[in-house]
Amino acid sequence: MIEIKNLSKDFAAIRAVNNISFSVGKGEILGFLGPNGAGKSTTMRMITGFMPPSAGTIRIGGFDIIKNSLEVRKQIGYLPENAPVYPDMKVIDYLNFCGQIRGFTKAALKRRVENTIEKCFLTTVKQQIINTLSKGYKQRVCFAQSILHDPPYLILDEPTDGLDPNQKYEVRRMIKEMSREKAVIFSTHILEEIQDVCTRTIIIAKGSIVADDTPAGLLKRSDLYGSVSLTVENADSNEITNCLNQIKGVETTTIISDENEIVRLQVYPETKDTPITDKVMAAALANNYQVKSIYMEQGRLDEVFRTITT
Ligand SMILES: Nc1ncnc2c1ncn2[C@@H]1O[C@H](COP(=O)(O)OP(=O)(O)OP(=O)(O)O)[C@@H](O)[C@H]1O
Ligand SMILES: [Mg+2]
Repeated sequence: MIEIKNLSKDFAAIRAVNNISFSVGKGEILGFLGPNGAGKSTTMRMITGFMPPSAGTIRIGGFDIIKNSLEVRKQIGYLPENAPVYPDMKVIDYLNFCGQIRGFTKAALKRRVENTIEKCFLTTVKQQIINTLSKGYKQRVCFAQSILHDPPYLILDEPTDGLDPNQKYEVRRMIKEMSREKAVIFSTHILEEIQDVCTRTIIIAKGSIVADDTPAGLLKRSDLYGSVSLTVENADSNEITNCLNQIKGVETTTIISDENEIVRLQVYPETKDTPITDKVMAAALANNYQVKSIYMEQGRLDEVFRTITT
């Protein structure tokens, strides 16, 4: 368990992290979202013992990050921002070095390094000098170092940054697979990653937590959530709007576009949790409208993110 209480960080006059508290348990994947400069990396640096807090406490697996720093760091895997790895080392030498300082020797070291190289798709570059790798491969080497010792706590600062779509998919899959036995915190700017991977999301803005919710809970805050997107052919937009607004349970209908006799509409329910799709479809059929498409909106994270952080 990761427990953070009243954590703050000041850099001279700048308050980068402002009195935040939260905890993350085994099996949880916590997604950290927030605009540039929100304080995500600073929070992660404090959780991993890389820099001390100005105020507040961090306990990981029962150990205090300041009083038992070494115990905590033994149990943590950390992927820092921008993959800081030793540029002059070969991939395999670097990972051997990381394994050694984690206390592995001989056969155990060899097995761990080999497994990790395979898992992180580094086999073809293992003899290459890190400096000569592309950005995505450097990121993978740094990710490899963070999981090498199979730590119960994983702190990943933008783990998929710079990866191609296939590798992004692989890293997400790995995070999900590993999370059964671990507590994971990861930051990202990719909203679909939050929906795909996280069990919970914290949104930080200007150093403070502005939302702590499940991805589904966040989506429900979207103005669009529960509304029906409807596209019909050969219809008069005002006529169909009037017709839809008379349905019981419909709050209002807006015309999104009306071009070449194709009308796109958004129909909003009176209460978000009472679906109106069937009623909208029935009304359209009863009035002989030619429906091209109809679906209920699940909400949009980008809209929620903008509303919460600006
Ligand atoms: N060592 C430092 N000295 C002074 N200010 C710092 C230092 N590290 C971070 N800051 C400031 O703290 C604030 C939070 O930065 P942080 O790197 O935590 O943001 P972030 O949420 O990770 O942003 P991004 O999405 O761009 O990675 C910023 O205003 C930043 O300039
Ligand atoms: Mg950052």
